[in-house]
This record gives sequence, C-alpha cells and structure tokens, in this order.
Amino acid sequence: MARIAVIPGDGIGIEVTEAAMQVAEATAAAFGIPLELEWFDYGADAYLKTGVGLPDGAMESLRDDFDAIYLGALGDPRIPDMAHGKEILLGLRFGLDLFVNHRPIKLLDERLCPLKDRTVDDVDFVIFRENTEGAYVGVGGIFKQGTDDEIALQEDINTRKGVERIIRFAFEYAREHGRKSVVMADKSNVLRYGHDLWQRVFKEVREEYTDIESWHLFVDALTMQMVKNPAQFDVIVTCNMFGDIVTDLGAQLQGGLGVASSANINPHTGASLFEPVHGSAPKYAGLGVANPVAAILTAQLMFEFLGHPAAGAAIEDAVRKAIGAGEVTRDLGGSLKTDAAGAVVAERIQTADSEEAE
Ligand code: NAD
Ligand code: IPM
Ligand code: MN
Repeated sequence: MARIAVIPGDGIGIEVTEAAMQVAEATAAAFGIPLELEWFDYGADAYLKTGVGLPDGAMESLRDDFDAIYLGALGDPRIPDMAHGKEILLGLRFGLDLFVNHRPIKLLDERLCPLKDRTVDDVDFVIFRENTEGAYVGVGGIFKQGTDDEIALQEDINTRKGVERIIRFAFEYAREHGRKSVVMADKSNVLRYGHDLWQRVFKEVREEYTDIESWHLFVDALTMQMVKNPAQFDVIVTCNMFGDIVTDLGAQLQGGLGVASSANINPHTGASLFEPVHGSAPKYAGLGVANPVAAILTAQLMFEFLGHPAAGAAIEDAVRKAIGAGEVTRDLGGSLKTDAAGAVVAERIQTADSEEAE
C-alpha cells in the first residue's frame, strides 16, 4: 500500500494536482499498485484563516504516516512575504532534511524545444540542486530599517556536510543510471569562502569517481552552455539558489514550466516531497488553463521513487503520446483545459494496460 499525503496548495496547484492524481489513480489501477490518497488543505486560505501554515505535529505525521508527500504549488498575492510557503514548502524541505532536489531536464517532443535543430536526444539531463542550505536558510536581519542607513544581511550557508552529500549523491546517481558525466556549477571566482568549499569538496569527491567524467563551470557560463549545447550534459550539481534559477531555464528547454517535474528527497531516510517546478501562477488560477503535465511527470517521479519504474515509464509514455497528438493545453499549442489534458493521459495509461494484457 502506498499512502500519499496530497497538498494541492494554492492557485493552479489545485487544478494540476487534481489532474495529476487522476493520472496517479489510473496508473495505480493499471499496474495493480494499492494507492491511498489523503488530501490536506494546507495553503493560503487556511493560513489566512488560522495564521498557521503547517499545524503542530503535521510534519511528523507527514513523515511517519505516509510513503510520500505530493504538493501542487504554494503562493498567493494576499501573502506577499510567502510566510505560509516558508512554513510548508521550505519547512518540509528543511524539516525532513530533503537535501536532494532532483529536477530532470528531458525533452519529450522536439517541437517543444525553443532551440534550433535540437532533438530529444540533445536535451536529456538531470539537475541536482542542494535543497537545505545556501541563501535559503533565512539567516540574516535588517538594521536601521526604513532609514537611509538601512542594512540588510542575508547569509549564504554552506556546510562541509551539506556540500559533500549533494555532490556525492550526483556522482552516485550518475554511476547507477549510466550517466557519463557530472558538472559542478558554482561562483567560486567571487564567493571566495562559501563556493571555495564547493570547489575543494568537488575536487576531493571526484577522485573517488574516476569512471565518471567531471568538470566545473561557473554558473553564468553554465546558463550559456545550457542554451548553446545542452547535449553535453548528463548530470549537473549546484547550490540551492543557482539550482532554483537554472532549473527554470532547464524547464524552458523542455517546453516550459508547464512540463517541468521535481522531487525533493532524502535518500538516507526515504522522506520525500514531490512538486512540479512551477508555482501557483496566480493570473491563471481557477481558469482551467494550466498545463497539468509538470504535475503528472512529478507523479511519474513519485512512482519511480516508490519502486514502480514500469508505472513511471507508462506515465512518461502516455504524456509523450498526448503531446505528439496535440492533446495538450494552450501553452503547448493545444486547446484542452487542465482537466481534459489530464484525462487524455489517464485514458492512454488505461488503454495501454488493456492492450498489454491482451
Ligand atoms: P509560476 O511558476 O507560478 O508562473 C510563472 C509563469 O509560468 C506563469 O505566469 C505561466 O505563464 C507559466 N506557468 C507556470 N506553470 C504553468 C503551468 N502549469 N501551465 C502553464 N503555464 C505555466 O512563477 P511566478 O509567477 O514567479 O510565481 C507565482 C507564485 O508561485 C509566487 O508566489 C511564487 O513564490 C510561487 N512559487 C511556488 C513554487 C512552489 O510552490 N513549488 C514554485 C515557484 C513559484
Ligand atoms: C521552486 C520555487 C521555490 C524555491 C520558492 C517558491 C520558495 O521557486 O521550488 O523552484 O525557490 O525553491
Ligand atoms: Mn523556482
């Protein structure tokens, strides 16, 4: 039995989660995987009503009573400081020590790629974003606020343990998945303390993985290379903030935020949180125009993580066929609404299964 805690969240998160969970249920039924979904209303509405993002004990329950957590998106214009997102999304990433943010960059149909003459083979790599440190930790302060002498400090935390475990994970992943290379991206030419640590740890760890080709790029050069020649990449590892930025660029190489999936995991404890790369896109909330593919491919990552690779592959295949047939939302050039775009993927999985059974 796979028990999933489902947090649709805010804005389009709600619509894409409904579509993705419909696909998850169809997949579970097709592959005989017992699946139980429990829905939670954590998000902006609940926060505005109660002042609480993640209630007392919720994190422990999400960790202990479920096999995985699935999140749509958080973000609401009524909460400009994202206080609820800090509690829920960053709260779970930090609280459950989900240090691996796994973001695949995989082009499923060459017509979706904004680059000239690129095929699906050219855009197929994985970005590992450090997910528990860096500038995200919220250490800092404001002094003399509102005066001409105001000072704002935002610390960038890099620990030996934190840097080593994500770099090591990237190499282990490359080895296990037949990937040829690992690229580490930082800004060690300027961040002479924090990213010097990344440099030293990378040089040390790569010595243990001489079967994997590895090289370093400054992150500014990485963004250029991702556009110039994405085919050179297999695995990229970088810090929290740079990982956030380069995965939106990576999303566009695959067709946009509407198709980019993501998993937050702790490979040692097994705790996990699955969420698309995109946010709550408030201007599209409730219109039924959001693309559910990112959320659906995020469910694919969840099935794979739960030990069901064939189920994951079936989801990817169904999405690829739906895109090929133009059965997609308007951001990909189609005319389907969110629920219909999810339903066509679910139907393809059901049909594929009955064809296989024949
Ligand atoms: P966003 O990802 O919500 O949207 C940016 C743009 O990308 C949208 O306007 C839209 O054009 C496109 N887009 C995104 N998802 C799409 C989809 N599924 N289908 C079609 N088009 C899609 O980013 P933003 O506008 O910068 O942020 C909005 C809110 O979401 C903010 O509050 C932000 O903090 C939050 N956010 C949350 C998460 C998360 O919960 N994981 C991630 C990113 C942003
Ligand atoms: C993401 C988002 C989050 C991040 C925000 C909403 C905190 O942009 O998951 O990419 O910056 O990590
Ligand atoms: Mn982001």
